[in-house]
Amino acid sequence: MARRKKVYEGKAKILYEGPEPGTLVQYFKDDATAFNAEKRATIEGKGVLNNRLSEFFMTGLNAIGVPTHFIRRLNMREQLIRAVEIIPLEVVVRNVAAGSISKRLGIEEGTALPRPIVEFYFKNDELGDPLVSEEHIIAFGWASQQDMDDMVSLALRVNDFLSGLMLGVGIKLVDFKIEIGRVWDGDYMRLIVADEISPDSCRLWDIDTGKKLDKDVFRRDLGNLADAYTEVARRLGVMPQGPTGVTKPTLIN
Ligand code: TMP
Repeated sequence: MARRKKVYEGKAKILYEGPEPGTLVQYFKDDATAFNAEKRATIEGKGVLNNRLSEFFMTGLNAIGVPTHFIRRLNMREQLIRAVEIIPLEVVVRNVAAGSISKRLGIEEGTALPRPIVEFYFKNDELGDPLVSEEHIIAFGWASQQDMDDMVSLALRVNDFLSGLMLGVGIKLVDFKIEIGRVWDGDYMRLIVADEISPDSCRLWDIDTGKKLDKDVFRRDLGNLADAYTEVARRLGVMPQGPTGVTKPTLIN
């Protein structure tokens, strides 16, 4: 097979040209980074888990009418996605204080927030993805007022969907980050959820024990990251190895 053309390589994923115009192949690497890639490791199996988990979340979102870039999974590490023009913002939704909001505002980690808080960070590694306000976003033309309204509404719908899904398997959705892209159907532009949704981009705490089941395990050296992600996948019924159903050899007559 002819080698596909690489379109983009990020810290955890690679994008290749897709089989048809307007599509891309998204490949999930085993690389983990934190603190703007100051900390790096390769975690065997992480890419396979995130490919499956992102498929699971995006398929569910598509099914309830929240548009995403996901078309279908191709294999263990790759999925076919719609090509989008990524808006250069990380959209974070927080239900419980943790991470940077706790640091910035002095709120103890684990404090429930009075309502979900939506934040925007400018995607720029050199600047360390700074927090920005709606004023900055509109003044600098990264998104319009209409885009902002649509992004907040998408982010809150994703929050409700993921929170409910996680609650059902004994996990608290503390916060998460999504990226949003533009697609055009003729002259009509709309925004859809893009990139990935996985434990790399969420904070997930076990409801009973508070145990962390997300990338903080890597950021804070709390144990084995692949084990934590496997636990999330197992609870959600997403099994990367696939339950074979075969427990012992059987005679075939
Ligand atoms: P923060 O508390 O560090 O701002 O992170 C908020 C959420 O966003 C958390 O679920 C982790 C996720 N996140 C990313 O996916 N990528 C990033 O680069 C950062 C800083 C956070």
